[in-house]
Amino acid sequence: MVKLPVRVGGLLLGLAMSCGTVLGHGDVQPQPVDTTGLDSLGTEWKDKNPYLGNARAIEIGTSGYAQNCARCHGLQMISGGLAPDLRYLPTGKEGDEIFIERMRHGAVINGVTKMPVFDGIISQEALWSIRSYLESKHEE
Ligand code: HEC
Repeated sequence: MVKLPVRVGGLLLGLAMSCGTVLGHGDVQPQPVDTTGLDSLGTEWKDKNPYLGNARAIEIGTSGYAQNCARCHGLQMISGGLAPDLRYLPTGKEGDEIFIERMRHGAVINGVTKMPVFDGIISQEALWSIRSYLESKHEE
């Protein structure tokens, strides 16, 4: 069962008020994600999603995404055009590699941070959970 993110109301408000600013300088406040119930992964980055298809990871990733990514990539991954629509990210290892690259380096375009780095800010467990959620919503 997918739990409705508790913060959706606040998030929408935040979206309306801060999206321009957020995109301007990439200054976001990452939200902690509770990963209780998942195997720990250690500090070394895995090269592919260790939680692929894991129902608990998808559940955790659903709210992790809503809290940390939706303001730019769109609620429920439906992008309003501010940032790429992540439903079309490739599946499997190809998509995992793009994902890892972004988590580690974010996106800096012409010296402006368009997407912050999440590696070291949000746990690897939480990030792979978000990846599991993305892949569960994949579209061709
Ligand atoms: C402040 C806005 C912002 C936030 C927050 C943000 N992103 Fe992004 N993201 C972007 C932008 C803008 C791009 C496109 C950068 C480019 O064109 O190179 C991007 C690109 C990506 C890509 C590459 C997409 C592709 O098709 O190549 C992935 C994957 C991604 N983001 C995942 C995430 C995840 C997962 C989160 C949450 C943990 C997140 N992003 C949070 C703005 C954001």
